[in-house]
Amino acid sequence: MERIKKVLISEADVKARVKALAGEISEDYRGKTVTLICILSGASIFFADLVRALDLDVRFEFMSVSSYGAGTVTSGEVKILKDVNHPIAGKDVIIVEDIIDSGCTLSYLKRVLEQRNPASIKICTILDKPSRRKVEFKGDYVGFEIPDEFVIGYGLDYDGKYRNLKDVCVLELTED
Ligand code: IMP
Ligand code: MG
Repeated sequence: MERIKKVLISEADVKARVKALAGEISEDYRGKTVTLICILSGASIFFADLVRALDLDVRFEFMSVSSYGAGTVTSGEVKILKDVNHPIAGKDVIIVEDIIDSGCTLSYLKRVLEQRNPASIKICTILDKPSRRKVEFKGDYVGFEIPDEFVIGYGLDYDGKYRNLKDVCVLELTED
């Protein structure tokens, strides 16, 4: 069983931070067309908010990679379940993710995409748990650094649920 323990980041705080990140990205990529890759399904809500706050020409791509099952511990194995629809060679790419945890998913994904020769590739994540890294990895645009707690809401799930919560909340697993 699980229960929502507390709100970690409120909807208002998320909104303000997304706006600030979008401002930063818009400055950095001024005059360019950016290919934004949304990592499904966790980043879907963040992606939708971020792209609408960008003052840039953008193209959307969607990828799906395997990470967790029903549990809260990473398996370490990464598989591409759905790839982008168009080549990224020569493009300025930003990978949009919900959270960096162990770093395994994104370090693998970034390496795979770099081999396709994009003009540039950066990482934008709304959440980051730096204390949980198994491999060294840094996001370029990070919304919030959070402690080692399992969070849900704003796109993040537990067993496929809670993605539609507006706040980022801490989930507690109980015995019964
Ligand atoms: P990593 O490969 O360990 O960095 O894991 C990244 C993926 O694990 C994210 O894209 C999430 O889908 C999932 N994940 C990691 N931490 C959490 C969490 O606290 N709540 C929900 N999903 C998480
Ligand atoms: Mg994810």
